[in-house]
Amino acid sequence: MTGRISEPDQPSPPTPLAPAMVTFPATGITRIRFGEEGPDSFAVVPTGDGIPPSEERLSTGPAYATEDLRVSVDRNRDRVDVSRIGGGPILTELRASRKDDGSITIDGRVEQGSSYYGGGERTGFLDKTGEMLENWNTDANGDHTSATRRLYQSHPFVIVLCRGRAFGILFDNVQRTYMVLDRSGNGDIAFGATGGPAGLFVLEGPTVKDVLRRLADLTGHMPLPPLWSLGYHQCRWSYHPADRVRELARTFREKDVPCDAIWLDIDYMDRYRCFTWDRKEFPDPEGLIADLQEDGFDLVTIVDPGISKSVRYPVWVEGLERGYFCTTPTGEVYLGKVWPKRAGFPDFTRADVRDWWAGLNAQWIAQGLAGIWNDMNEPATFDKPDNTLPDDVMHATGAHATVHNIYALLEAAATVDGLRQARPDERPFLLTRAGFTGIQRYAAVWTGDNGAIWEHLLMAMPMCLNLGLSGVPFVGTDVGGFNYHPSAELFVRWTQLGAFSPFFRAHTREKEDQEPWSFGPEVEDICRRYIRLRYELLPYTYGCFREASLTGVPVMRALLVEHPDDPETLRCDDQYLWGRDLLVAPVYLPGRRHRLVYLPAGTWTDWWTGERHEGCCHIVAYAPLGTLPLYAREGAIIPARNYGASTKERGDELTLHVFAPTEGEAVCEVYDDDGRSLAYEHGDYQLTRIICTINDGVADVRREVVHDGYADELRFISLRVHAPVEVVAIRLDGRDVAMERDGAVAVGRASVS
Ligand code: GLC
Repeated sequence: MTGRISEPDQPSPPTPLAPAMVTFPATGITRIRFGEEGPDSFAVVPTGDGIPPSEERLSTGPAYATEDLRVSVDRNRDRVDVSRIGGGPILTELRASRKDDGSITIDGRVEQGSSYYGGGERTGFLDKTGEMLENWNTDANGDHTSATRRLYQSHPFVIVLCRGRAFGILFDNVQRTYMVLDRSGNGDIAFGATGGPAGLFVLEGPTVKDVLRRLADLTGHMPLPPLWSLGYHQCRWSYHPADRVRELARTFREKDVPCDAIWLDIDYMDRYRCFTWDRKEFPDPEGLIADLQEDGFDLVTIVDPGISKSVRYPVWVEGLERGYFCTTPTGEVYLGKVWPKRAGFPDFTRADVRDWWAGLNAQWIAQGLAGIWNDMNEPATFDKPDNTLPDDVMHATGAHATVHNIYALLEAAATVDGLRQARPDERPFLLTRAGFTGIQRYAAVWTGDNGAIWEHLLMAMPMCLNLGLSGVPFVGTDVGGFNYHPSAELFVRWTQLGAFSPFFRAHTREKEDQEPWSFGPEVEDICRRYIRLRYELLPYTYGCFREASLTGVPVMRALLVEHPDDPETLRCDDQYLWGRDLLVAPVYLPGRRHRLVYLPAGTWTDWWTGERHEGCCHIVAYAPLGTLPLYAREGAIIPARNYGASTKERGDELTLHVFAPTEGEAVCEVYDDDGRSLAYEHGDYQLTRIICTINDGVADVRREVVHDGYADELRFISLRVHAPVEVVAIRLDGRDVAMERDGAVAVGRASVS
């Protein structure tokens, strides 16, 4: 030791940043920049010219107003205030500053007593009030708890809800960021970043749905997914060799458990080289794919970004020759340890590298694969200390630290581009682990490595709900848990929740099997029932996906989306809505045969028993192992359909579960198209409005075609009418239908061909 302990650096005081620019990209969206003006991040889709506001010159600075918002800039105090026209302030005292090290902070204040949602993929509970949320895509390895601050995805977005009125804030900064959400209870919030722009988008409500719609307009809408991707998926690390995959497929069909897709994890590859097959284990991939397709299965393969360093691997050689990999600060290719011991990482910030990646994916998928699974794209490495690329690894646009969080978003854009090239008329399918705000434009998201523990089953709910509240509707968890082997009971409960998760895939890394039949006949039976229920409800669920793609309102929906005025919904972590009309209350504790369920306003019918309950109160649901508490909203019609072994075997009977109200109508819209092509974008779809009224005990069901662009092979309609009065007759489109009773339910069936 040579002695001198240096003085700690005196922190330099932050320099205030002047509010540079206020614009209104679209109705209800305000863009605020402090300091230097600059482009929006890749999270945001171009929004055109925007709304010209009216402008007032005050002595302190300009004030802008649109139809719904007023934003005033105080140049003396470098401060911005946002308020609703006629509705009071929503976000005030906004100020930004930058330190010498380039880091920035934006502080502001919202109404006291607000609660906070969204924030992307988070552990813990639904309401994020009082928390500090970090954004730095991280391979969490499955050990996450409610104290974990960072997971695979980054969404610097939050919905602020106060007394039933909502607005959203997108902190448009892709660097390592944090959001402090009212730690002291006085409404103070802060956004910080290690560098980059000091920019916010403020998304006006007043409803949560309005905020979600504006978020989708700003960061992109989820395209309508292919129908097969909404079926049941079976995965493990890994199904190999090919004969095992065939046997798995055979078992699904023998056991009569519907399944649409089998997934291949890293062991299908030749020495973990992406876009290759291990030819010993998979000697004839195209034959395998074709045989699976014949049996109604789609095949999806994993693709990681780390490209194995090997002079005998054409992808590596090409990438190296063209200089496509990220480099060290001194210009050598950066090599990280992933599944291949040494791997290079494509620099997805470059358009030419994205084109190259698109081409690789296009070629790969052309073999007949149905979709791609992007993993390890935080990007993750096994190199200590950070398990990712060092901050100073270089991309064309700058240091890794400045693009780390959007690495996966850029990879996803390139991948989907490739899938579109390969099959221009079909809907692409991509699943990703990492992502950033806007990822819904390209990919479905699964929440990475969870554990077969009850805590993670509970956590699955608020985690997926908050992703939905961050603009990502197509989400799911590893059903059964990835790490550790679940008990039979946990597997059943997880399958029940999975059947009501937007993305429904079982996955494990353990040596024990984790298929629906792996836990004995009772569990097999229950799993089969719930997987079948998933398929039966597809007409309803597909309609919810369509709604999500058009409006940004998620399929798996926190209660507060529909009932923001009801304080009970603000901390409702352990139940959710499936679309608007079904309420799902999974059992997530071992040994439980009962649970408390909160029913919001309205009347709700127990899906299984037909019992009616008035809302705005808690009930105790009886839920033995085979029962997932499920309720339908009075006034709803839930369309269902008979399916065979997969979505490719659709029956010709539509069942309408009618939950008729005491007064007025029960209504639904049934959306239908070919389920796989883009023809619906040009009008090739069918939209039918179905209305049921009850007069003098006669249930009168009418169909009105709203849009007639797709011919259905429908032959029968079954009606199951739940009503508060005795139903004595059923009519469909003006014709009497023979009626029977199934308990209290009036049942009829009519031929419609
Ligand atoms: C990662 C993924 C997991 C996958 C494994 C092997 O842990 O999260 O789903 O099975 O890598 O590829």
